[in-house]
Amino acid sequence: MAEEFAPPGLDTSTSHPARRYNYWLGGKDHFPADRASGDLIESVHPTVRLSVRENRAFLQRSVRFLASEAGIDQFLDIGTGLPTADNVHEVAQRIHPHTRVVYVDNDPMVGVHARALLTSNPEGRTVYLQEDLRSPGAILGNPQLKETLDFGRPIGLMLVAVLHFLPDHAQATAVVRELVDALPSGSYLAATNFTLDHSSPRLAAVARQMIEQGRSDAHPRTKKEFGDFFTGLGLIGPGIVPVADWFPEVPDDERPTPEQIGIYAAVGRKP
Ligand SMILES: C[S@@+](CC[C@H](N)C(=O)[O-])C[C@H]1O[C@@H](n2cnc3c(N)ncnc32)[C@H](O)[C@@H]1O
Repeated sequence: MAEEFAPPGLDTSTSHPARRYNYWLGGKDHFPADRASGDLIESVHPTVRLSVRENRAFLQRSVRFLASEAGIDQFLDIGTGLPTADNVHEVAQRIHPHTRVVYVDNDPMVGVHARALLTSNPEGRTVYLQEDLRSPGAILGNPQLKETLDFGRPIGLMLVAVLHFLPDHAQATAVVRELVDALPSGSYLAATNFTLDHSSPRLAAVARQMIEQGRSDAHPRTKKEFGDFFTGLGLIGPGIVPVADWFPEVPDDERPTPEQIGIYAAVGRKP
């Protein structure tokens, strides 16, 4: 259990998104504060574990799509999360074994696990950078980024379940713009964000109250706000849809409803 191992300097007294997400996914890398926060959110949104599984499934479907349909063989995955099954490089390297992936997260515990576990096959390469999405210049200026990815060829930028931790919409859109502007033509952005667009008024009110009281740190976006991240990009396939409905691999009647999930997803291509 995680209690036996906390990297030096790690604050385990407050909940952190990576460890809470790991708790909901059924992983082992979380602390009491993460479980308490996870249980509190689950008491309001009982299908949250289904939501995170659907979000994770989108990450894998979109990487498969980018690798197989768009020929993408290099990815920048910001907000990586704790390693679990089928991480970005594993999915992509099944299609292009030489795929290179730069992982970025701001949680030191993700750093410890990622450096140990997100290891590439011999043909490809993975690198982990301990950086913050709120400082895109530091990510783009990190020498290891450009040593690993070729900015002369298209790159897949993954911002999956991380943008909702940037509540200031102007800041979040500016961050995405700076990252997308740095990518070559033909690159892609794949992203998801928590939403209350499909929630009952009662659930939406409780969720907003929890955010105001500092008991939840995931900030919802409307479809229009989520769409702002894709300004100037060509939306792929179904456009902006509930996460389970983006190029689904199961029939309609077997998919959860948008209300159960509460996450938007989209993939856009830079012209
Ligand atoms: C909910 S997890 C998502 C993991 C993975 N992208 C997925 O969708 O399965 C969110 C991740 O974003 C990271 N994160 C949150 N805020 C961040 C920030 N400002 N900069 C970098 N990473 C951040 C958390 O540490 C966590 O690992």
